[in-house]
Amino acid sequence: MTQARSKLVVGNWKMHGNHAANAELLQGILAARPLGVDAAVCVPFPYLSEVAVTLANSGLAWGAQDVSAHEQGAYTGEVSAAMLMEFGCRYAIVGHSERRAYHGESDQIVADKAKAALARGITPIVCVGETLAQRQAGETEAVVKRQLSVVIHTLGQCIGEIVVAYEPVWAIGTGLTASPEQAQAVHAVLRAQLAAATARAAEMTLLYGGSVKPDNAAVLFSQPDIDGGLIGGAALKAADFVAIVRAAA
Ligand code: 13P
Repeated sequence: MTQARSKLVVGNWKMHGNHAANAELLQGILAARPLGVDAAVCVPFPYLSEVAVTLANSGLAWGAQDVSAHEQGAYTGEVSAAMLMEFGCRYAIVGHSERRAYHGESDQIVADKAKAALARGITPIVCVGETLAQRQAGETEAVVKRQLSVVIHTLGQCIGEIVVAYEPVWAIGTGLTASPEQAQAVHAVLRAQLAAATARAAEMTLLYGGSVKPDNAAVLFSQPDIDGGLIGGAALKAADFVAIVRAAA
């Protein structure tokens, strides 16, 4: 049964931006964004404090792109969930495929990061997704289920509090979007897996990410198990991001 879940659109700025560009981008989004759709921007760590000031009471939420699995201590370069909380972060992306690929993040590290975020009241946006080789080998379902199962095992009943983002690696930054049917099929698999773990699965937010653009967002978001998007490149242009948020309205 299709549940009435509210949509969420999250911009992942990745390692882009500077003071002037961020201010212009946020002003553009705030000026034109439709009300009534939950939206957020996940920005590089150094800009969190100024983004928190700009977006205070705006209705547009903000988050980080990573969080340490550790509470505190001798972890040079890491940023804890407690620190993020001081900046009013609502979300932290964890397990993005770029971090899995370039920073060696295992399924367990990703799960531990999700747990650390939740412990401080920050909603982790847990990313899962297969590579092109894995899809071509028919392993998509097994890969995403393995990635999610470690998070389910680690979080227990708290699994109902996370957001999951399905981001096929082959669709990220490539202009190749999963078809609505391909994306929906994986989302249905993920929701069924969540349903076996929590009674809250039907209320959980499952985002799709990977070359979401203004012209493909509406059809993706209209799929029964797709509750919005995690947006990379198009989140860096105010008009495109706003159009994608509007597509979720
Ligand atoms: P693109 O929208 O640029 O494909 O990036 C998707 C993504 O990785 C969001 O986290």
